[in-house]
Amino acid sequence: MCGIVGYIGKQKATPILINGLLSLEYRGYDSSGLAVIENNSIAILKDKGRVSNLEELTKNCELTSHIGIAHTRWATHGKPSKENAHPHLDNSEQFVVVHNGIIENYHELREFLTQKGYHFLSQTDTEVIPNLIHYYYSNGIADEDPFLRAVKSAVDDLKGSYAIEVISKLYPDKMIVVRKDSPLVIGKGNGENFVASDIPAILSYTKDFYLLDDNEYAVLSADTIHFYDNTLSEHSKAIKNIEWDATAAEKNGYEDYMLKEIYEQPNAIRETIGSHFTLGEKCSFDDLSIEKDYLSTINKIFIVACGTAMHAGLVGKNAMEKLCHIPTEVDIASEFRYRDPIIDEKTLCIYISQSGETADTIAALKLAKSKGAKTLAVSNVIGSSITREADYTIYTHAGPEIAVASTKAYTSQVVLMVILAIYFAETLNSCDTSELESLKSDILDLPSKLEAVLDETRTIERFAKKIYTEHDMYFLGRGSDYYVAMEGSLKLKEISYIHSEAYAAGELKHGPIALIENGVTVISILTNPNLVEKCISNIQEVITRGAKTLVITNQKLHNVHFDFVVNIPETNSFISPILSVVPLQLLSYYIAKNKGLDVDKPRNLAKSVTVE
Ligand code: F6R
Repeated sequence: MCGIVGYIGKQKATPILINGLLSLEYRGYDSSGLAVIENNSIAILKDKGRVSNLEELTKNCELTSHIGIAHTRWATHGKPSKENAHPHLDNSEQFVVVHNGIIENYHELREFLTQKGYHFLSQTDTEVIPNLIHYYYSNGIADEDPFLRAVKSAVDDLKGSYAIEVISKLYPDKMIVVRKDSPLVIGKGNGENFVASDIPAILSYTKDFYLLDDNEYAVLSADTIHFYDNTLSEHSKAIKNIEWDATAAEKNGYEDYMLKEIYEQPNAIRETIGSHFTLGEKCSFDDLSIEKDYLSTINKIFIVACGTAMHAGLVGKNAMEKLCHIPTEVDIASEFRYRDPIIDEKTLCIYISQSGETADTIAALKLAKSKGAKTLAVSNVIGSSITREADYTIYTHAGPEIAVASTKAYTSQVVLMVILAIYFAETLNSCDTSELESLKSDILDLPSKLEAVLDETRTIERFAKKIYTEHDMYFLGRGSDYYVAMEGSLKLKEISYIHSEAYAAGELKHGPIALIENGVTVISILTNPNLVEKCISNIQEVITRGAKTLVITNQKLHNVHFDFVVNIPETNSFISPILSVVPLQLLSYYIAKNKGLDVDKPRNLAKSVTVE
């Protein structure tokens, strides 16, 4: 929801902080700020709006400090404004904090501190933190590390989720960080150390990372990093080497991250298929030891996720049910966690999350665990929170996804879910081997077929030019095509701000057709040969009422006139969404570009929804 960066070392902190914030802007961009320790006092710069505003401010002052913390905000408590932007100081201006997450009991804490004589300058929940630190620091017992002790006492009072960085002018060579239910990584350099909410922010400085655990503290200096548990007893921690290429997190010459990520899909699929199978051999997952004995006891699968990841789950459900014969339900995480679902040890719950940090998805996972079910996470981020909670984890290998609107993560999730279904089917002997082999062969052909779909970009661009001024659009499909329609409609809303609805084509007559009038755009996906005729009848109904039609299909369609047709290669219907969604991603992209919108950072949205 917000992004944080920290630096302590020998270089000037400010440029490193700004660089980090720029690559974290997808996490929030309504305001940003930084704090450094300059001449024994804390210097703060902050501004409303994009990080570029903050960058401008830094050009007007000579900051030479070698320690600093920074933040890019996506408002939750208090409107986007300069005073609400982080960092926040305590009243004595000795401690300064940036925070990602939500302090649920901040009203209570604010009242407590007010009674003790503290006052507040912002409407944020965060401002209680530096003041609590000050309160405990000034009232603390003698301790060999009073700064750490005061931070820990303050953190003990917090309820909610947080990733926190603290520095103090009293300790100009020290930074303290702690997290709970909000991501935080520490990058280890040579004579310098880095902190960030997400790896790409500091990937150009180091490839060696520590992934901080919940309720774990780290105390950093330029040369050392010490880790403590929540009783402040020190422990050692394993370092992880992250192989991502720093340039993978940059735009590589594309106008926007979203377009780059759309074009990266053939490779993301290739990487995600990885070495899970070769033709004629069974599927395998190196780190997944799900035995036949356990799998045969499963009588129900839930796939739980949010937004686009949930749409990938819908496609996965088809494969799970048809190949494994296990009843499978797909749930929206924010609904699942509060609807008291029927779960027991015979239920397998699969959670899909690109970021691995989505608060609702993590809470839904914890719920299933508490009811005795086994949980399996599907994530794109190694070591993310969800992977640390789940019993099992499998990874998509889409690489960092920076654009807020998910594209390559979705197609990678779909392919991985289908491979997982094949793996289960092979373990359970629930499906004919030749059917599975033919599906595998189609999966292996996906990257080259995706390249062919991407060659059709011009047709989509032309169609986008024709329709970008419209206010309402409709997406139709049946079966998996309906799930793709849902994803296409979400993409359009997200980045082009055009109202749209996706309908199961058969539902049209039950109400929505009343909305169809002359000139309305209806986009249909037709890839399932068994359902094509029925879907065409539905499209005829809207054509009769004057609709403009775009059809995405892998079928030969005769005797019907559509305004635009995008032909995509044929493939197995379990994986056809991976091909048919691409024209829809491109359509939203080009509509948004025609409207002059910022496709990578759509309004009101953040990449990682780490609060409820
Ligand atoms: C849409 C989009 C969101 C995410 C959703 C879940 O383009 O990106 O709908 O899919 O917020 O995010 P993750 O997968 O990180 O849990």
